[in-house]
Amino acid sequence: MIAAAVRIDVLSIFPSYFDGLTLSLLGKAQDAGILDLNVRDLRDWTYDRHRTVDDTPYGGGAGMVMKPEPWGVALDELATASERPTIIFPSPAGEVFTQATARDLATREHLIFGCGRYEGIDERVFEYADTVGEVRLISLGDYVLNGGEVATMAMIEAIGRLIPGVVGNPESLVEESHEDGLLEYPSYTKPSMWRDRAVPDVLLSGNHAAIATWRREQQLERTARRRPDLLSEQDD
Ligand code: ADE
Repeated sequence: MIAAAVRIDVLSIFPSYFDGLTLSLLGKAQDAGILDLNVRDLRDWTYDRHRTVDDTPYGGGAGMVMKPEPWGVALDELATASERPTIIFPSPAGEVFTQATARDLATREHLIFGCGRYEGIDERVFEYADTVGEVRLISLGDYVLNGGEVATMAMIEAIGRLIPGVVGNPESLVEESHEDGLLEYPSYTKPSMWRDRAVPDVLLSGNHAAIATWRREQQLERTARRRPDLLSEQDD
């Protein structure tokens, strides 16, 4: 058995959310030993009859807070698998996840995702985690989800496909939205006429230089129209 290139551990009180990650490319990557994905139930590190993971907030307020103890024991155990893991807590209060974040995280040998629920995790967990690894609080975007699970799945998919060997043809990674800071050009396939809509002539011309120019123009035009913020970022 070849050593796995990247190990990803997930801590969640809803591990079955992640069943979908056995499908498709990431499933194949796990079968091939390129990706070692371990989804663990945080309640496995509780030691009371009710397997309690939350409690009322000090200082009062609505909702419940995740207790620190299960996180501490779980992180101690998982962190031993590598020298210094990157420990990611999805949070709407974190830095925003981008393709650049995915590229950075895809180079790490060991990632641990800690999925919070309820009103969040006791703050001391983040401080403690920083003593056993490098902590990152990462947001999927400026909106609130019910917990970190869906954000973690999105991040694992974005990171996983950048791990060498996961996507069969690495060229297909290069020409995608966000890889060069622009949105992707439009794609067409057969038939060349469908419901009175024709495929642009240039794509049928066989003129590769003209096709490349047209695609670049389309990328710029779409980005200017849909995401002008991306063009101004390029000037920065
Ligand atoms: N948990 C709740 N909302 C989130 C968000 N927007 N990104 C990451 N994790 C979250």
